[in-house]
Amino acid sequence: MNFEYAQRVKRLPPYLFAEMEKIQKEKKAHGVDLISLSIGDPDLPPPDFVVDALANEVSDLKNHNYSFSQGEHVFREAVCNWYKNRFGIDVTHDQVVALLGSKEGIANIARAFVNNGDKVLVPDPAYPVYANGSTILCDGLVVPMPLLEDNNFQPDLDIIDTDNVRMMFLNYPNNPTAATVDKHFLKKTVDFAKDNNIILCYDNAYSEITYDNYRAPSILEISGADEVAIEFNSLSKTFNMTGDRIAFAVGNKQLVAGLTKIKSQIDSGPPVYIQKVAAAALGVYKNSNQPEFLRKNNQVLQERRDLLVNTLTKIGYPCEAPMATFYVWVNCKEDSVKFTTKLLDVGVAVTPGIGFGKYGEGYVRITFTQPKERIKEACERIVSIF
Ligand SMILES: Cc1ncc(COP(=O)(O)O)c(C=O)c1O
Repeated sequence: MNFEYAQRVKRLPPYLFAEMEKIQKEKKAHGVDLISLSIGDPDLPPPDFVVDALANEVSDLKNHNYSFSQGEHVFREAVCNWYKNRFGIDVTHDQVVALLGSKEGIANIARAFVNNGDKVLVPDPAYPVYANGSTILCDGLVVPMPLLEDNNFQPDLDIIDTDNVRMMFLNYPNNPTAATVDKHFLKKTVDFAKDNNIILCYDNAYSEITYDNYRAPSILEISGADEVAIEFNSLSKTFNMTGDRIAFAVGNKQLVAGLTKIKSQIDSGPPVYIQKVAAAALGVYKNSNQPEFLRKNNQVLQERRDLLVNTLTKIGYPCEAPMATFYVWVNCKEDSVKFTTKLLDVGVAVTPGIGFGKYGEGYVRITFTQPKERIKEACERIVSIF
């Protein structure tokens, strides 16, 4: 028997992170003390109150039934309150849908709105799910928007051919470049989407991982955004809950309804107990300031960031300290896979930029989701070869 993959599956490039995991496993199996600075999965734990709430909610037998496709009332209420407290925006329950991680929502939004052959604007370099899990698996056509250093890693909207474009993805604070944008750029993007009848999918997964008093905006703060935009956010990075798979999409009612319709045919919402815990977690925001847990969390990350940036700059790879995310995007001045291989030889795993798209070539992404001591050790190993 030979079961061939569907054509759309054959068009998928290899998933970079899975490849990286495989190489790392092999190295470890050969006894290498590998320091992984390649995966965007926080090493820090969720806050104690989240873990306690989880224990309580999971013990409550009422919390083991199906949820609703759009999510529990209590969770959507918490998301509405969070938008009010954090961004000063009023959103209603029918503008919110619970997700099994924002990755799931990003993948499913195209199912609701992208027809065979429709063009989808995708940043390049980018989180691979926009092109692969979303566009290609819905038989859409990926149109890369180069994110170039000369343009502060923002797409040049003025040169885009908008013919037959149905949807666009945008992500700031950005993975992998760690770039941030101001509201002026966001306003331009919303106007661009409105003028061209394009669905704007804004991935704000790193809105809370910020430093030096920077606070990331929501696209929904921009006037007119509720006509064209849906924003994805997640508890994964904010509360170190990547494995708990809980996130949300908020925005234009029709877009939220379309995503909910798809989900109602596929899943039955995140577990009720996770949604209740997530509601409690979001509830720690009383205003736009970072709550205590997050302030401390980001302080730890910021020290690591500074260590990494200082070391790289000292050895001739100057890079800016990012204002957000836990990534440093380094111009490695050579083929990104070759550079990555050199680092692997001394037991440090980073991600070659080419894995995030053609315009990522010449860069590597270094993650600071390891304890400071390990990052120090990684820096020493890197210094030893340059
Ligand atoms: C830019 C970006 N968006 C979305 C996600 C997915 O997050 P989750 O599915 O855990 O909410 C990630 C994960 O690394 C990411 O980097």
